[in-house]
Amino acid sequence: MAESFSVGVVGSGYVGLVTGACLAHIGHRVACVDKNEALVDQLREGRMPIYEPGLEDLVSRSVNRGRLSFTTSLPEVVRDSDVVFIAVDTPQGDDGSADLGSVAAVARSIGGALAGAQRKHPLVVVNKSTVPVGSGDYVSMLIREGAAENDEGDVDYRVVSNPEFLREGSAVYDSFFPDRIVLGSEGRDALDTMRELYKPLIEQTFPTEMDPRPRAAVPFVTTDLASAEMIKYAANAFLATKISFINEIANVCELVGADVSSVATGIGLDARIGSRFLNPGIGWGGSCFPKDVSALRSIAREYDYEPTLLDSVVSVNERQRRRVISKLQHDLHTLKGKRVALLGLAFKPNTDDIREAPSLEIARALVTRGARVVGYDPVAGKAAARRLPDLKVVFDPHEALSGAHAAVVVTEWEDIRGLDLKEASSLMEPPKLLVDGRNALDAASARDAGLLYRGFGRE
Ligand code: UDX
Repeated sequence: MAESFSVGVVGSGYVGLVTGACLAHIGHRVACVDKNEALVDQLREGRMPIYEPGLEDLVSRSVNRGRLSFTTSLPEVVRDSDVVFIAVDTPQGDDGSADLGSVAAVARSIGGALAGAQRKHPLVVVNKSTVPVGSGDYVSMLIREGAAENDEGDVDYRVVSNPEFLREGSAVYDSFFPDRIVLGSEGRDALDTMRELYKPLIEQTFPTEMDPRPRAAVPFVTTDLASAEMIKYAANAFLATKISFINEIANVCELVGADVSSVATGIGLDARIGSRFLNPGIGWGGSCFPKDVSALRSIAREYDYEPTLLDSVVSVNERQRRRVISKLQHDLHTLKGKRVALLGLAFKPNTDDIREAPSLEIARALVTRGARVVGYDPVAGKAAARRLPDLKVVFDPHEALSGAHAAVVVTEWEDIRGLDLKEASSLMEPPKLLVDGRNALDAASARDAGLLYRGFGRE
């Protein structure tokens, strides 16, 4: 039986909430802290602030077992915890770098709460927020400063970096079945504590009704603080690069008359390349890739290094959004007075997140060019309508398609993949153009249904 820890998780957003619920499920006592009282009240009532499959159930089960609680009181949690995770947001600042304001405030408060506390073991402070390289030392300094403000210079803690790799829409699954767990610290004892904390995950011994891939032990990578911080940026930058790469290949495929789907299959079977993250289309968005690639470029520039490859990865991505507009213009000619349906508004399926969603950029560009834009999304409609008053949001895909001269598949939700294309065609106005921004539909069936189908990198 693995040891059970008292854990505090500061920040009840995406990462904090999922991490807290997962740690409670594997047997720890977890207190999630957030300064937002309304959010804490909402969580206590069992209502989730985000749409994430499986989360509500996971949270309610651990709450009922008495293992998971929510509070606004950080000092109390710091005093009672063996391990405290910092999982607050690090939004993109005006200059592209990560804004560490929230992390800094939490680190100081942890220092303040530690001041004068009698502890049996050092508090392990785990940074889960994505922070620039060197932030572990910065957090450490702020904890000391926070303690000094309370007249206490000598406090007992260790700082660890533990980047997260969970994907929105499958965050619960990813937390339980990670490809690896990465930990960085300068202290052996803190890494040992973390290994013990994660033991049920590493050895895959926790109870689960999910249907995972075979439950093999999870690799546990230990390194220094800076390398752990860099792993997070490098992983996201690589994935973004992979997508921009296939998008560039797709654009060349269009020119030479090749089919990028076959090309992706053909190269993906090379184990050195791998078949995942080779879906071309309107490019990457969301809360992580844009922010992290931008922060990494900013870190490089801080050291007078020109990150040429990463700069291109971003330009290719920006160009993909514009290609949607070109494809519409190619067949509709003028966009003025045309009705365009956007199918899917979230930045990807199974989330209500519209941060850096291509839908917003595309809708803005269309409205500027005089088109009437109607958007449909199974869950992100309201959020998109709040962001873009010019976008008419409807809650039925058929209503969006009705009278539309063109439709764009922006997010490959299951119900959009499964659209009855004949019915879609019957609802639309000529030229019944369908721009498949995710290559999610079958081109031949779309053409049989009378639609003018345009994919990315394929006929
Ligand atoms: C990502 C990372 O995958 C995760 O490890 C990290 O912790 C946070 O950032 P997420 O942003 O939730 O997760 O989504 P992901 O599934 O990685 O997709 C990112 C973007 O790339 C989406 O906009 C998606 O539509 C796009 N994408 C993905 C493609 O355009 N093509 C692909 O082949 C894969």
